[in-house]
Amino acid sequence: MRKKVSIVGAGNVGATAAHWIAAKELADVVLIDVVEGVPQGKALDLLQAMPIEKRDCSIVGTNDYADTANSDIVVITAGIPRKPGMSRDDLLNTNFNIMSDVVGKVVANSPNCILIIVSNPLDAMAQAAFKKSGFPRERVIGMAGVLDSARFRTFIAEELKVSVENVTAFVLGGHGDTMVPLSRYSTMAGIPITELIPADRLKELETRTANGGAEIVKHLKTGSAYYAPSAAAVEMVEAILKDKKKILPCAAYLQGEYGISGLYVGVPCKLGSKGLEQIIEIKLTAEEQAALQRSADSVKELCTVIGVA
Ligand code: NAI
Ligand code: 2OP
Repeated sequence: MRKKVSIVGAGNVGATAAHWIAAKELADVVLIDVVEGVPQGKALDLLQAMPIEKRDCSIVGTNDYADTANSDIVVITAGIPRKPGMSRDDLLNTNFNIMSDVVGKVVANSPNCILIIVSNPLDAMAQAAFKKSGFPRERVIGMAGVLDSARFRTFIAEELKVSVENVTAFVLGGHGDTMVPLSRYSTMAGIPITELIPADRLKELETRTANGGAEIVKHLKTGSAYYAPSAAAVEMVEAILKDKKKILPCAAYLQGEYGISGLYVGVPCKLGSKGLEQIIEIKLTAEEQAALQRSADSVKELCTVIGVA
């Protein structure tokens, strides 16, 4: 029997995530939204691409949570995206109300699923979903680091004029202006990029990464990025469905790791069939640890505002 992945929010990120999942033939997909017609129309359109793409997946669009029952994974993208001039934090109260409503319905229908949270502000929304679901931390994981590190990898590969496949990069911390791109742990074919790119240029690439979402909002004007965000969420889906034990930077609920407790923050995680299977602790310099702590503090501030700290 094929695995089942439900995606809540049939907007740009949700529908494009459905597209990647179907294109990779990873699972049957249920696309659900509050707006009537949109998930149905997008799902039917995508389904009709399957004979061309030679993929066998069921793709259903719905407004009824009963159709999501017994999902293996539920990806939550419901919410409003930011517009030019808005930060991710400006979405806090609206998306918290949406997240609370959605998680209650998802959990009632799929009590054993793994939740992948995408809605912004990401770390606070993951924390809200964790508290509302009552799930163990292994089954509530936030997507941000895969996207942020993919942006960093893109810029590094362009700079060094090499294949993106040769570049690994790590970005830690919350998904906001205080994220921590870790050049020291980023490599080209195993060679630390700190030996290949001058420090001042590296700083520019780190800053561009931290502002990566805003750069795209400025171009689009009516919404935010969705191709790379949805591909990032689906890399997490694939790691879990295929039990790959893949190390990816994700937002996880820390319980003392990196000196932080009771908070979702982006850290290197091992993803497998149980969801979050391990948090990898790497040695940070005092400066990196301070940057991570600053990032965690800003996540905590948001969590306090919505009462989930
Ligand atoms: P969008 O506006 O295209 O889609 C959002 C969808 O959510 C809409 O179709 C809307 O009808 C639906 N929705 C709203 N309330 C709902 C509810 N109660 N139940 C079900 N569906 C509901 O927005 P887009 O671009 O898809 O972004 C979605 C969210 O993901 C935003 O909050 C955005 O900031 C966030 N995001 C996060 C990223 C990350 O790295 N974590 C990256 C990109 C986007
Ligand atoms: C991004 O980084 C908006 O969080 C989203 O593109």
